[in-house]
Amino acid sequence: MTNAPYDTLVLAGTGKTGSRLAAKLAKLGLGVRTAARTGADVRFDWDDATTHRAALRGVGRLYLVAPVMRTDFADQVATFLDLAEAVGVRHVTYLSAYGIEAAPPRVAPRAVELDLIGRGAISHSILRPAWFMQNFSDTFLRPVDGVITVPTADGSEAFIDAEDIAAVAAETLANPDAHAGAGYALTGPEAITVSEAADVIAGAVGRPVTHHDIDRDVWIQGSVAAGVPAEYGEILRMLTETIASGMGSRPNDTVEKVTGAPPVTFADFARRTARAWTGVVRGPSCRR
Ligand SMILES: NC(=O)c1ccc[n+]([C@@H]2O[C@H](COP(=O)([O-])OP(=O)(O)OC[C@H]3O[C@@H](n4cnc5c(N)ncnc54)[C@H](OP(=O)(O)O)[C@@H]3O)[C@@H](O)[C@H]2O)c1
Repeated sequence: MTNAPYDTLVLAGTGKTGSRLAAKLAKLGLGVRTAARTGADVRFDWDDATTHRAALRGVGRLYLVAPVMRTDFADQVATFLDLAEAVGVRHVTYLSAYGIEAAPPRVAPRAVELDLIGRGAISHSILRPAWFMQNFSDTFLRPVDGVITVPTADGSEAFIDAEDIAAVAAETLANPDAHAGAGYALTGPEAITVSEAADVIAGAVGRPVTHHDIDRDVWIQGSVAAGVPAEYGEILRMLTETIASGMGSRPNDTVEKVTGAPPVTFADFARRTARAWTGVVRGPSCRR
């Protein structure tokens, strides 16, 4: 391992996990360089290979987040990993997703996992998190006019705080030898339904929040109309079907085993995050 000033390159370094990971690595006194198209330490664009070599300069460890909102990226990632290996990266922590170890090799995140597993000169740790709690504050589960619209029925999920994912990632990148070859399924401490999550958010913000279990086709059509690529719409179908059919993630003790601290509860996340929902959770009594 190198002790270069920028020892770890954090892809998606301005995103939900990458930004938190970078802060944790810096707090540990480790060199860290965030990468994204805008707003990071270094400009990095998956679709512009001329940005790749400069981003990797002096780097010994890598937090790998594959191109987001896509379904076909395994070759692109493999080419980048070839370069990373050639310039001296010796450990990769890869942000995959819950249950991906059971997917066939043609599924891109599984193909990336298998690529990493097959590399001799690079050790790896694979993180397979459940749905992020931050989906409720930052992205597609955010309440609109007091309603969270998603086709998950009464199925539950062990939502995890991105802080806990970042804490596990930081541990693997700070001590790669201790986590080489690991595949960590990462969950929060309890499996809850979206309806239960809505109740917790309502309690945190002091206004009604409910779950609307919309027809799945209608929801996907709406997501695609709002800008989600059509092929990614099919991933959303599979993800929501998994939860709705009762096959969502189940809590485990991996976060605590790796970090020494129990994972954050949804109630604690909601209390900490309440300000993010100001103005978007208005119930009927608040409509103009
Ligand atoms: N949300 C969930 O519940 C969940 C659950 C399991 C796994 N995951 C996985 O988590 C990953 C996303 O991680 P995240 O949530 O931490 O990130 P995120 O918050 O979605 O942020 C995306 C990051 O990627 C960067 N980015 C976007 N397009 C890029 C491009 N073409 N080239 C380089 N960088 C680009 C963005 O910055 P710029 O736009 O400035 O480039 C940003 O830093 C995905 O692989 C997803 O499958 C998510």
